[in-house]
Amino acid sequence: METPGSRTIEDIKRDFPIFRNRPNLAYLDNAATSQLPSMVLEAMVDFEVNYRANVHRGLYPEAELATNAYEAARAEVATFINAEPQEISFTSGSTASLQMLAAMLSPRLQPGDNILVSSMEHHSALLPFKKIAAERASMITTIPHDADYRLDLATFKLMLSQRVKIVVITAASNVLGTVNPIADIVELAHQHGALVIVDAAQYVPHLPLSVKAWGADAVVFSAHKMYGPLGVGVLFIEQSLGEQLTPSNLGGGMMREVTSSAMSYEDAPWKFESGTPNIPGVIGLAAACRYLSSLGWSNIIVREEEMTRLLIVGLLSLGDVRIIGSLTMNDRLGVVSFTVPGLHPHDLATILGEQGVAIRAGHHCAMPLTSSISPTGVARASLGLYTTAEDIARFIQGLKAARQKLA
Ligand code: ALA
Repeated sequence: METPGSRTIEDIKRDFPIFRNRPNLAYLDNAATSQLPSMVLEAMVDFEVNYRANVHRGLYPEAELATNAYEAARAEVATFINAEPQEISFTSGSTASLQMLAAMLSPRLQPGDNILVSSMEHHSALLPFKKIAAERASMITTIPHDADYRLDLATFKLMLSQRVKIVVITAASNVLGTVNPIADIVELAHQHGALVIVDAAQYVPHLPLSVKAWGADAVVFSAHKMYGPLGVGVLFIEQSLGEQLTPSNLGGGMMREVTSSAMSYEDAPWKFESGTPNIPGVIGLAAACRYLSSLGWSNIIVREEEMTRLLIVGLLSLGDVRIIGSLTMNDRLGVVSFTVPGLHPHDLATILGEQGVAIRAGHHCAMPLTSSISPTGVARASLGLYTTAEDIARFIQGLKAARQKLA
């Protein structure tokens, strides 16, 4: 990967301590979690060893440093996704963000209303909305995909009506790698007055995100899939919606006034952050945004496209492997699921693991989709910005060996 500073892919790989410690690891499980560069780790350690204190509470210098770093991180994350700082709340991750959204939007649903979800939603996006639909006697209806595993937009248009109140849509599928046309979906949904919630967990590590360009009402993602720390994520809520919503999680740090008979909340985004947040995580997340920006999106995109092509061509060269997802490079990420006839995906992943190749196998928390493909789920290789041609060659070699061993 040539970056403005002429850093090679080998230089970039050296940014990640795990690859120095485990030089033989071909890590192709980035859709589950990505690895952590030194600069992110250092930013978190700096907080821990130099100014560890709670935020928005203390009046001593370390507490002020912590609060300033935390709020600076909010501003950086906002810039990273082209949002305003007051639209960014920090949570423990996409799952928590989606639960909060579902709980906060639930009172808006009336019996007979409809929530649309895509056929490729992760359980984190699907289940909280299934739950509120059941509680509010509303419906939840699935937008189908076509034979090329793209969302069927023609059917989506027909499904829209004034009864559709919420559309939940993944920006990029964690199984198929499909990138959905979010701006078009938002425009259509808004014509019918529906809110659009976007799960961007798989999108953010691979493509630049502008929430303003999408126009979505809420967007969620997690730090740990974008070279940041575990246990922290983002809940973007568009400003006017954020002002209207009543928080679902109550506790310290988000109340303006509490008396024996009444309470009032802080403004957004602080009203959505009850309790002590994951402060080093937030600082690490901002560092991860800086790391991605420093590499340059065009470099990342070109490199990952090249690696995705190699991966698909390599899998197709095996003959009997079925790729679950589009074979064209348009609007698809390097998240490539596949099945091998007669072989259990778990067996494949285990044998590959023994050879130092990390992939994921099973239902990928997207069972409505994966069980329609195969009762045992699918195997999945997913790329990161540090993936090399050698990693992919080792994966393909490993797959050949696994196939022979299991045949
Ligand atoms: N959602 C993550 C994955 O797809 C954990 O693997």
